[in-house]
Amino acid sequence: DVMKELLGLRNLEEQVELKLGVKKVLVVAGNSDEDHWVKHELGRASVAELKAKREPSDVIAVMGGTTLAAVAEMMTPDVGMRDVTFVPARGGLGENVENQANTISAELATRAGAQYRLLHVPDQLSEDAYSSLVLEPSIGDILKLIKSARVVIHGIGEANTMASRRGSKSTFIEKIEREQAVAEAFGYYFNREGDIIHKQRTIGLQLDELDNKYVISVAGGESKAEAISAYMKYRPSDVLITDESAARRLLEIE
Ligand code: BG6
Repeated sequence: DVMKELLGLRNLEEQVELKLGVKKVLVVAGNSDEDHWVKHELGRASVAELKAKREPSDVIAVMGGTTLAAVAEMMTPDVGMRDVTFVPARGGLGENVENQANTISAELATRAGAQYRLLHVPDQLSEDAYSSLVLEPSIGDILKLIKSARVVIHGIGEANTMASRRGSKSTFIEKIEREQAVAEAFGYYFNREGDIIHKQRTIGLQLDELDNKYVISVAGGESKAEAISAYMKYRPSDVLITDESAARRLLEIE
C-alpha cells in the first residue's frame, strides 16, 4: 500500500523475508517496546491476516501473551467467521488470566462472532498427571480439535523475560542462562542457533505438529529481534508480523 511505500516499510519487509527465509513478513511502523499502541498495530495487521486466510469451518489455535491479547482487542465482527472455532494451542504456561491462551481465544471468538472451546489444564503438570489427563474423554475431544487446527497464531518471547514472568525456579533460570537460551515460543526455549534447549510439559500442540498448518507469528520490539531470529531458524513461519524496530535490528544480526 501507498503508506508502506512512503515509509520504506515494503523494502524492509523484503529484506527481512530474505534474511529469515520467511515467505511473508509484514512490518508496522514503530517500536512496541516503547509504545503500547504499536502492539495494537501488530494486532490490526494480524486480524487482517486472519480474516484473509480463514475458511468457513476453520479451527484457529492461539497462544497467549500481551501481544496476542492486543491482537484479540483489535478483532471486529466477521460473518464469515460464524462457524470458525478458536481454541488455545496449548495448556496453561503460567500467565495472568488476561494473557492466557484460553482467555484470548474466547475474546477473539466473542469479538468476531465466532465459536470457541476452552482447555482446562493446570500450569505445572507431572508426568503422571499428564498421561492420565490426555485419557480423559472431555480433554481428548478438545485435544483432537486443537490438533486439527489449520491456522495457528502465536507470540515469541525473549527467553529470560518469559522464564521470570512464569515465576520459574532459579535452577531453571540458571539452566537457560548456561545454555544461552534467547527465545521462547509455545513453551519451548531456543538458543541463537534455533536449537530447542527446553520444553515445558503441557498438553496441546507440540512444536513438531505444526507441519501443514498455516503459522502466523506476531512479535515486535527491538528487544525481541534475537528471539525472532532464533525461532525462525528453528522453523520459519508462514507469516511474521513485526514492527519496524525489530525488523531493523533483525537485519543487523549475524
Ligand atoms: C506467552 C506464550 O503467553 O506469550 C509464549 O506462552 C510467548 O510462547 C509469550 O513467547 C509472548 O508474550 P508477549 O507478552 O511478549 O507477547
